[in-house]
Amino acid sequence: MKLYATGIILTVLGICRLSTMLLAQETRIAQTPPMGWSGFFPSTKSGDELIRAEADAMVSTGMKAAGYEYINVDDCWESGRDSFGNLCPNGRYPDMKALVDYVHSKGLKFGIYSSPGRKTCAGFEGSFGHEDQDAETFAAWGVDFLKYDWCSGSGDQVAAYRRMSEALKRTGRPILFALCQYGRERGWAWGASVGGNTWRTTSDIALNGISYDDIALVGFEQNGLERFAGPGHWNDPDGLLIGQPGINDDEARTQMSLWCLLASPLITSNDLTQMSPETLAILTNPEVIVVNQDRAGIQGHRVAEEGPLEVWVKPLADGSKAVGLFNREGAPLPVTVSFCDAGLPASVQLRDLWARKDLGVFQESFTATVPRHGVVMLKATGQF
Ligand code: GAL
Repeated sequence: MKLYATGIILTVLGICRLSTMLLAQETRIAQTPPMGWSGFFPSTKSGDELIRAEADAMVSTGMKAAGYEYINVDDCWESGRDSFGNLCPNGRYPDMKALVDYVHSKGLKFGIYSSPGRKTCAGFEGSFGHEDQDAETFAAWGVDFLKYDWCSGSGDQVAAYRRMSEALKRTGRPILFALCQYGRERGWAWGASVGGNTWRTTSDIALNGISYDDIALVGFEQNGLERFAGPGHWNDPDGLLIGQPGINDDEARTQMSLWCLLASPLITSNDLTQMSPETLAILTNPEVIVVNQDRAGIQGHRVAEEGPLEVWVKPLADGSKAVGLFNREGAPLPVTVSFCDAGLPASVQLRDLWARKDLGVFQESFTATVPRHGVVMLKATGQF
C-alpha cells in the first residue's frame, strides 16, 4: 500500500515536472530566426482587410508550410489613447483582438509595432510612459511579436528597451521582442542583455528606394557581427525585398542566400496575394531555408573577397557547411571557393541548393560562373 502510494506521488511529480519542462520549452522564443511577413513596404498598405488577405495567402501559397509564421502589422495602426490611457487602433483596424484571433485561427502568429518614444516614425502614438499598460494591451489582444522602433526615443536606449522587455515578461505571454534602433550604439552588443530576440543592425534597407544596391550595401556589411547571434537572439539586417519591383530573380536569390547564411530573420513584405511563381519558389526553397533555420544557429561570415566577388560560409549542425559564391559585378564572372579558405577538408562533396542537384566530389576548390548580382549556393560535406 505504502509502495503504491509512493508510486502515485512519484508519477504525479513526474507529470508536473514534464508539464513544467514543456511550458519552459514553449516559452523559448526564436530558437531559430523568425520567419514571416510585415506590412511596411510601399507596395503594401495597412488595414484589417489587407492583413487578413495576407494571412490567407501565407497559408494558401505554401509559405506557412515552408516555415513562415508571423504576420506583422508595422507602423500606422495607432490612433491615440482613451480616457484610461489605453493605446487604441485607428479606423483601419476596427477590432484588433478579432484580427489577431483571425490570424491565430490560420495557425499563424501576430506581430505588432510600437516605439519607446512618444511618437512612432510615422508620427503615431508611441509607448513612452505607458510601457506596462501597452504590454498588457498587446498581451490581451494575443500579440506574439513586438517590433519596438526607436524613432522619437531619447535618452538611454538600453534602459528604454529593458523597460519594455520587462513589461512584456510581466504579462506572462511569450512575445518575441524585436529591437529596431538601426544598430546605433552597437545595439548588437547589448540587444540580448535587454531581452531582445532580434535587433536591427542597420538603418532601413530600402532607405533610398528598393534596389539591389540596398541589398548589397546592407547584406555584405554584416561580416563581423556573427559572434553576437545565436539561438534566441539574432542580428537583423532588415527585411527581404524579394518580390518587390526593381529586384530581379538573381538579386532575390542573392538576398535569400545571404540572409540564410547570416541566420537573419526572414521577414518579407511583398504582397503574398500576387506573387509570381519565381518569387514564391525563391522564398520557399526548402534547402535554402534549412540553412537559415539550422539548429546550431551559427551566423555565417565572409571567408574570401576579391573586388566584387565574395565567398561566405555558415557552419551547420551536422558538420557540413553552407557556402555562398556571390558576384556583385554587373556582368557574369567565375567565382572560386578554396576549400582551405572555407575551413573544409581537401576533398568535398557539393550540392547546389538553388539548382537542387548534387554536383559530385571536388578536390581543393570549386569554381562556378555566377550571374551578375547573383549567387551560387552550395552545401559542402567533407569527405574524409
Ligand atoms: C522605421 C523602421 C522601419 C519601419 C518604419 C515605420 O524607423 O526602421 O522598419 O518600421 O520606421 O514608420
